[in-house]
Amino acid sequence: MRVLVVGGGAREHAIAVTLARAGAEIVVASPHANPGLERIAKASVRVDVDAAQRVSDFGERQEIDYAVIGPEAALAAGASDALRDAEIPVVGPSKTAARIESSKLFCRELLAKHGVGGQPRWRAPERIEQVEATLAEFSGPVVIKPSGLTAGKGVWVQGPDFPDARPGAAYARSLLAQGQRVLIEEKLEGEEFSQMAFVTDSGIYPMPAVQDFKRALEGDQGGNTGGMGSYSQRDHLLPFLSASRRDRAIEILAQSVAALRSEGIEYRGVLYGGFMLTAQGPMLLEFNARFGDPEGVNAMTLYDEGNFDELLYGVACGRVDPTLLEFRRRATVLKYLVPPGYGDRPRPGGVLEIDEAAIEADGVHVFYGSVEPAGPAAVRLGSSRGIALIGEASAIHEAGARVEAALAHVRGEFYVRHDIGTLEDLARRREHMRQIFSPGAKPSPLPLSVAPPDAPPSSAAPDEMRV
Ligand code: AMP
Ligand code: GLY
Repeated sequence: MRVLVVGGGAREHAIAVTLARAGAEIVVASPHANPGLERIAKASVRVDVDAAQRVSDFGERQEIDYAVIGPEAALAAGASDALRDAEIPVVGPSKTAARIESSKLFCRELLAKHGVGGQPRWRAPERIEQVEATLAEFSGPVVIKPSGLTAGKGVWVQGPDFPDARPGAAYARSLLAQGQRVLIEEKLEGEEFSQMAFVTDSGIYPMPAVQDFKRALEGDQGGNTGGMGSYSQRDHLLPFLSASRRDRAIEILAQSVAALRSEGIEYRGVLYGGFMLTAQGPMLLEFNARFGDPEGVNAMTLYDEGNFDELLYGVACGRVDPTLLEFRRRATVLKYLVPPGYGDRPRPGGVLEIDEAAIEADGVHVFYGSVEPAGPAAVRLGSSRGIALIGEASAIHEAGARVEAALAHVRGEFYVRHDIGTLEDLARRREHMRQIFSPGAKPSPLPLSVAPPDAPPSSAAPDEMRV
């Protein structure tokens, strides 16, 4: 089939590669010339992804069979609606349904109205004068969020981003003064995970759980970003996530789709829940109406023996054959190479020489994001996430080690989080959850450096963390 991929990041490069491997012909609508996509595309057009009508016109001219929309900006601008008006099936919800991501207020109100569980306490002051009183309703730390899209960077968490109520109130007031709606939420404590699912008219089909690394710097320091990297575990759970808690997250996804439907809003595409695993179970931080970037790349890497083209065409048409949903039982680790200073003040323009053949020979895949070509085996970094390297193995730390080894084949100045997928980091997260479930428990006696690798599937995810 001939498929339009909308977007120009590493996520879209991975979508295109996975589709092409299944025999699809790819055409691309992207704001910049992504060297990875350009290599695969039969045709491509430079277009801002929020220019919905231009995206749809290009798809029509290219006589595509269906379209896959990567970025939220395209969904929020109505690219799916424009394509569907032209009778082209789309993997991606309508602008109305995508409000579950593009308006956090719409999302929280919808879920509250339909009694969907797993929600933190939240308030949405309407006027600047209400901010202080609203904050006073919360006894503990809070999170301040603009309701609209922020590319992962507008959310302020008390603790890492601001010390106490006063600067939080100033931030909330400044957002309201700019005409934005604001949510104030109780700050949840725990470990975050991403649970994505394909959503069709006939049901929801979960993908493996993934953990994304939101903070710019090692040890989860620095500002929030779109995601510096991610990992998945071979049993499709996570070192701190049991099957029953993962299933609860999937139940929240299903209830939310039902809530949309009961408002007369259909959903065809990918729904991605960003969850915090807390002492009370999984709590919803936000929904995204698309593949995660980078989490979608972990899921697609595990899909490569199936027919992704047939699967996505089915999603676009509202019906999938469940036997197409086979994800291999392997662990994956992805790390983004970003410009120095990314997350705060990125310094773009650096040239990276990259020996792709050597990286692929080591079993690590390369996906390009915010880069432009700079010679036969070199790219110039833009100001966002540049190159995704993803490795797989039977255990997470082994996949992480593969990516670390592959970094030797990239020359130039970049930043990468070396801690993603290390034994030390996995042990730290398990211990963090153990402390959440049993506050005051004695720290694990194991030195972190000899913490056990991922447990086999049967014992990987006890319902209660074992001490
Ligand atoms: P969001 O865009 O809503 O996912 O928020 C971005 C990031 O802010 C999340 O990935 C979390 O790290 C953090 N965050 C958002 N809401 C909360 C919350 N209620 N409690 C704690 N952290 C949060
Ligand atoms: N990795 C976070 C996102 O895709 O929004």
